[in-house]
Amino acid sequence: MAPGTLTELAGEAKLNSKFVRDEDERPKVAYNKFSDDIPVISLAGLDDVGGKRGEICRKIVEACENWGVFQVVDHGVDTNLVEDMTRLARDFFALPPEEKLSFDMSGGKKGGFIVSSHLQGETVQDWREIVTYFSYPVRNRDYSRWPDKPEGWVKVTEEYSDKLMGLACKLLEVLSEAMGLEKEALTNACVDMDQKIVVNYYPKCPQPDLTLGLKRHTDPGTITLLLQDQVGGLQATRDDGKTWITVQPIEGAFVVNLGDHGHVRQYTLSISLLIFFSVCDFDLAKLACLLKYLSNGRFKNADHQAVVNSNSSRLSIATFQNPAQDATVYPLKVREGEKPILEEPITFAEMYKRKMGKDLELARLKKLAKEEND
Ligand code: SIN
Ligand code: FE2
Repeated sequence: MAPGTLTELAGEAKLNSKFVRDEDERPKVAYNKFSDDIPVISLAGLDDVGGKRGEICRKIVEACENWGVFQVVDHGVDTNLVEDMTRLARDFFALPPEEKLSFDMSGGKKGGFIVSSHLQGETVQDWREIVTYFSYPVRNRDYSRWPDKPEGWVKVTEEYSDKLMGLACKLLEVLSEAMGLEKEALTNACVDMDQKIVVNYYPKCPQPDLTLGLKRHTDPGTITLLLQDQVGGLQATRDDGKTWITVQPIEGAFVVNLGDHGHVRQYTLSISLLIFFSVCDFDLAKLACLLKYLSNGRFKNADHQAVVNSNSSRLSIATFQNPAQDATVYPLKVREGEKPILEEPITFAEMYKRKMGKDLELARLKKLAKEEND
């Protein structure tokens, strides 16, 4: 999409056709029909070895084995910091379009503002604006790409990214131990852990039933911490993708999403796509078990998406902890009786390229199948 903002389109009565999704991709559950299926885990006492730690770790591991998504409360990140971050992010999106566009990141710039979709190059667009910046490793910070408005955001972001990196590493310690490894095993496997913050702003939408704020996906990296406001719109699915639930927003909680780096992704294919693939002799096996993961598939990751609504705008802040580009991706632990889900080690950069390439290929084939059917 050409650089711009959604401000003008949000005021129109009818949704612009470039946001209209195929019927099978449209939301199936209301943005505010909340479910409490996803575990909510209090981290109070996590450092209390010999005390509460064991019980908390057990809950985290169980959530990762069953869902790959859960919420954490009592996580130790200061409430004021979380509130400041949210307020400043909201203030950024309330700036006039020309001010936001002064941070426009189209044209390959590393960080800034953009109307963005999950998959670059896909024809149907997501209904969201984002501002993004790279926060770790510190040497990668390009402050010229960090918005300097509203005032104070840079300082708050620095503190926020630091605290979230700490929290992510604590959670990775729990998972490393559960795999029977040294506490630092998962963090070390990321080499020099990368951190990227993406602030998502989903304006009110004229026809929310026809579109998505963020298309169904899994996060490619290691672990994501998502802060969302009270509006609702994050939806997750378990296993087969037939049942979607809307995650209950909890004030100040982080939604923890495990990324592909740790698991196996399953694609759910519609019958018409399967028929199409069989006709065109597409290599389904490659598509269905593409990704390579440190837990050898033990921990899950949930397909998730964001839906929008016509009543209120929504804000979420995703903090992605990813391996370094040249970090090796290969199971760290293969349990007895299992085979490694990877043939050989690859780099994270290669894993990411393959994932995005396949996702785009899937979107292209789906479009072809649709044209064929019409
Ligand atoms: C994401 O998946 O990165 C964001 C989802 C949301 O905004 O709830
Ligand atoms: Fe995501």
